[in-house]
Amino acid sequence: MQAEQLSTQEVADLAGVHKDTLLRWLRDGAVSEPARDGRGWRSFSVAEAGAITRFAKERACADVAASTEAADLTIEKLNGLDWDFHAAKTNYLTHGLHPYPAKFIPQIPNALIQELSSVGDTIADIFCGSGTTLLEALQLKRNAVGVDANPLAALISKAKTTTLSNRQIEMALRHRDECLHISRTIRPREGNLFYDGKPFLSAAWRPDADMCEFWFEPHVVEELAEIRLRMSLISDEKLRIFCSALLSAIIVAVSKQDSDTRYVRRDKQIQPGDTIRRYISQLDSAIPAAVELSDIVEDRFSCRIYNESLLDAPKIGPCDLVVCSPPYPNAYSYHLYHRTRMLWLGYDPEKFKKEEIGSHRKYSAKGSNRATAETFKREFRFIFTWLRTYLKDRKYACFVIGDSTINGERIDNAALLAEAASQVGFQECARISRELQATKKSFNPKIGKIRKENILILQKAR
Ligand SMILES: C[S@@+](CC[C@H](N)C(=O)[O-])C[C@H]1O[C@@H](n2cnc3c(N)ncnc32)[C@H](O)[C@@H]1O
Repeated sequence: MQAEQLSTQEVADLAGVHKDTLLRWLRDGAVSEPARDGRGWRSFSVAEAGAITRFAKERACADVAASTEAADLTIEKLNGLDWDFHAAKTNYLTHGLHPYPAKFIPQIPNALIQELSSVGDTIADIFCGSGTTLLEALQLKRNAVGVDANPLAALISKAKTTTLSNRQIEMALRHRDECLHISRTIRPREGNLFYDGKPFLSAAWRPDADMCEFWFEPHVVEELAEIRLRMSLISDEKLRIFCSALLSAIIVAVSKQDSDTRYVRRDKQIQPGDTIRRYISQLDSAIPAAVELSDIVEDRFSCRIYNESLLDAPKIGPCDLVVCSPPYPNAYSYHLYHRTRMLWLGYDPEKFKKEEIGSHRKYSAKGSNRATAETFKREFRFIFTWLRTYLKDRKYACFVIGDSTINGERIDNAALLAEAASQVGFQECARISRELQATKKSFNPKIGKIRKENILILQKAR
């Protein structure tokens, strides 16, 4: 009786390797060549196939050991870095295009991306905020994916990662000149604003009148509506998005809202013409920054941004590394402090208010609706389970987070995240503590000073 013989493909399947890998091993002499059949094709005996399967197993174990050793060395290196970055410049490229509360300094994602990924990989920031990680990923020759439930965050992230063609730069400069002409000839007359002796064009759209009256001087409303109208006439969509973020950037400064982290009224003595001049100065710093970015970022790298809640499990596609800074529970209410900006841009703050994780409003609510540390942990168990679908095996997810105070109790958020992650198949590799610079992150002062934060590095188990 003829003994069973196997083809190259059958042996490769048995050994669990690609046929090309087996052919390479045969070529290199790593495994023995079998006899050939009448057609000249390789014909393996069962014993030869068994030997190759054993070789493949040993090789896989050695590969895992080598990659574990390399990973240990990387984590050791990350542990040894100075993460405080006291003297670092943080506003390079388009990083300073728009203020954003609790944004992290670009040096943090930069170091994590360099150490934990390779050129061409896809880096995700699942709480992308103003797009710090996304911009760093692009300039380090990686693809970027961002998710944020805040529509303003998605807008800023898009603007910060915008590269401009020569045609778009010319259009941006024409728009700037148009605004400059208005600012030079602007005059208040009988309660109305005129430029060039003519009334403003803006029979234009403006948000709810009560909101405008409460938060803005009447001439500021006129100028914002005029800028918005001029901007809407820009035919290029990418440039329109870019300019919308620049308009958003000035709104709190020209409103009566005290600051990005205080939703109380204060008169700021904004004069006619100040609003449009501030917008021009945004254009003057943002256009050269975007031009500089356009020289650095290669077309082959992409940036996708999803304006969705993570609790709705968005479909983001596979990624090689996650670098993010989640909301600290009870620290901030983005939907509230971004409200005037959102209304001017035509977004719905109510939708985001419901979706926002960690908002001060949810953690200070009265009665049984009040969120607790357990709410935060449950939400993160869901997020880690969702993330397992998209983060590749053995890849890393980094979370930059400090403590917070909930109902008078100090909560170690890094420990809480590590526990939630470990319940759904992530392993903690490192927890690095770093000092926060007082000037670099702003939180609601009511919840107390946050001086330290942790960089939690998790690895997805196979
Ligand atoms: C600390 S900030 C991130 C800042 C960001 N690292 C940066 O540098 O700008 C946290 C972000 O989580 C977002 N967020 C809150 N709830 C969310 C949800 N349900 N889904 C997605 N993002 C959410 C907030 O809108 C906020 O932008």
